[in-house]
Amino acid sequence: MKKSVKITTIGGGSSYTPELVEGFIKRYDELPVRELCLVDIEDGKEKLEIVGTLARRMVKKAGVPMKIVTTLNRKEALRDADFVTTQMRVGLLDARIKDERIPLKYGMIGQETNGAGGMFKGLRTIPVLLEIAKEIQEICPDAWLINFTNPAGMVTEALLRYSNHKKVVGVCNLPINMRMTIAKLMGVETERMQIDFAGLNHLLYGLKVYIDGEDKTSEVIEVLADPEEQVNMKNIAPLPWLPEFQKALGVVLCPYHRYYYKTKDMLDDELKSFQLGQTRAEVVKQLEGDLFELYKNPQLDIKPPQLEKRGGAYYSDVACNLISSIYNDKGDIQTVNVRNEGAIRELPYESAVEINCVITKEGPKPIPVGELPVEINGLIQQIKSFERVAAEAAVTGSYEKALLALCINPLVPSDRLAKQVLDDLLHAHKEYLPLFNQKVKM
Ligand code: G6P
Repeated sequence: MKKSVKITTIGGGSSYTPELVEGFIKRYDELPVRELCLVDIEDGKEKLEIVGTLARRMVKKAGVPMKIVTTLNRKEALRDADFVTTQMRVGLLDARIKDERIPLKYGMIGQETNGAGGMFKGLRTIPVLLEIAKEIQEICPDAWLINFTNPAGMVTEALLRYSNHKKVVGVCNLPINMRMTIAKLMGVETERMQIDFAGLNHLLYGLKVYIDGEDKTSEVIEVLADPEEQVNMKNIAPLPWLPEFQKALGVVLCPYHRYYYKTKDMLDDELKSFQLGQTRAEVVKQLEGDLFELYKNPQLDIKPPQLEKRGGAYYSDVACNLISSIYNDKGDIQTVNVRNEGAIRELPYESAVEINCVITKEGPKPIPVGELPVEINGLIQQIKSFERVAAEAAVTGSYEKALLALCINPLVPSDRLAKQVLDDLLHAHKEYLPLFNQKVKM
């Protein structure tokens, strides 16, 4: 009988947690979770108790012997953990509203994980994740750190570069959503479709698509070139690709690529929402309020379908599939963020990449893709440079590095505007940027 596991979820008060609980309940036979320990901070205490109480109702209804613990004591929560999942939003949704609205005020893309807003999500988050990685090293050094916290690519890059904890995997729900959507568009079950994914988090390309093991890439590209047949996510405006562009490129694009290859159109769309006070973050804040009202209902003992309205839907399948495959040494293929180790030839050996991996008890092993097509290599290099400079800014509190990162980001249209948006965002988020506070008049 395999040893049961303890899973500690930091940011346990998240509205997404019921999906994670459902995922562990569904897989209890192959992944016996004896304890799920949900951790949050003082400010998140009320949400933590609401989510924890719902989780206990879900576990009771399912009849699985999973103990749900809720605590504000992170170090205690880490004791004996086999897996630690992290899913936090430093500054909560009010901080995300600033990340999206302030760049738009300067006429540039304002988005949760991209551009100036995405960088500030990283600046707030990376020091916290590095502290958690340090505690894991001290308290449960054999545990896997499975990070969901956005910007997952930049955060994984920072953890790989600046933390001593090596058992780190960054995860995202985009690959599973893309695979499900494209399989549906092609009229096949998801299981029959494999996609050779490679790139960075939220900048992921499908280099080849196989159905029943046969290369169907050109057929899939034909379908995806049709403005009526697009891969969309709930949180991204579904502006269709120019058919000639998608056909000429010949690889599958992800929804986030719209911010880079359709910047002007996406910015015009965002500015309309900005004028209406309806940026994605403002819409999500309303959704989140409705979700927690639902979660309080003592009659609710399942994950509510309303959670599917969030862009992060199906992230639990990613987390639970990954944890179960490591625990069971399954050897299946999943798309996660790991150290490159030469899998993408043009990127640094030690950098974080999002790529197909074979999942074993030793963790994900990236599947080499060799040389990237010349058409997509440039943007990946530029964003990786940005991620590395932004991560350095996050760990040093250096104003110059933060300014430099913005100036080299393709979604920031001028160095003059980079400085204006940097100063504005530093001031807006100063309570969550202790390293910058020490060095910069904010
Ligand atoms: C997508 C991304 C996630 C992101 C989410 C935002 O699913 O993969 O990384 O956090 O959308 O969704 P939201 O509903 O918060 O806008």
